[in-house]
Amino acid sequence: MKVKPSFDILQVEETDSTNRMARVLAESGACDGTVVVAGRQTAGRGRRGRSWLSSGDFGLWFSVVLRPEFEPNLAGLLGIGAAVAVARAVDKLTGVSADLKWPNDVLIGGRKVCGVLAEASTAAGRVEWAVVGVGINLFHPEGGFPPEISPVATSLSEHMGPEAAIDRERLLGAVLDELADRLALLEREGARGACELVDEAERLMRSMMGRRITVKAASGQFEAVAVRLDHEGGLVVANDCGESIRVTSADVSIGYGPAESAESAQSAEPAEPAEEAPAR
Ligand code: BTN
Repeated sequence: MKVKPSFDILQVEETDSTNRMARVLAESGACDGTVVVAGRQTAGRGRRGRSWLSSGDFGLWFSVVLRPEFEPNLAGLLGIGAAVAVARAVDKLTGVSADLKWPNDVLIGGRKVCGVLAEASTAAGRVEWAVVGVGINLFHPEGGFPPEISPVATSLSEHMGPEAAIDRERLLGAVLDELADRLALLEREGARGACELVDEAERLMRSMMGRRITVKAASGQFEAVAVRLDHEGGLVVANDCGESIRVTSADVSIGYGPAESAESAQSAEPAEPAEEAPAR
């Protein structure tokens, strides 16, 4: 039985999108644990077909090819597992406390520091491959974040002392280690591991759980209270009639108002349809 993938790092100076590259590699048979890291991306992809600002070396932009040995219904937890891994790694290496916003944004001080784009291909009752893409803002881009996202975006360095240095390689290694632990948990324990991961993610969603949120789904926008995560990573909310609703694909913002706060940090509307598969 596979317990932990070992990672094989492919570093490129520039690419359009590490997720696109990793996906091509996955489809042509790349091994579990292949990682593509880019200095900059010319067409970084965000969730729900948006773009991701990563045109400079102000962040850590990478994607991991995975061939997880668990049931496809757990694939929705890959994005959440990666967000948990980033929050834990950041805390361990820098002492900066991050929390999560569903489905897989990492926030510091209520602003988005990292986004995760997970894609997966499932067939014949198994996950053929998955690609987990992670974008962490280490610094502000030159000239700052564009005005439309600057109120909701942040960088890790903003929360560290002026003397503190960020070691990209160590951070990448720490995130991959944490991710490997969560994957091993899901592979080893199945549904029980999923419960454990979901509990951990819920704890990190402390600024969201039990609070009013605005949910913006394809079918429309509504307000509700965030109640819990289910074991496939769906968000269970209670609407004002007390009904319980399971949300599987949406953006949320904490509090009232347009669901466009931290979730859309660095993102612009799509030039083409999203390619997201079941993993969120
Ligand atoms: C989001 O919308 O929050 C997800 C953003 C994911 C961005 C990362 S950067 C590395 C990888 N390559 C991409 O094209 N996207 C992901």
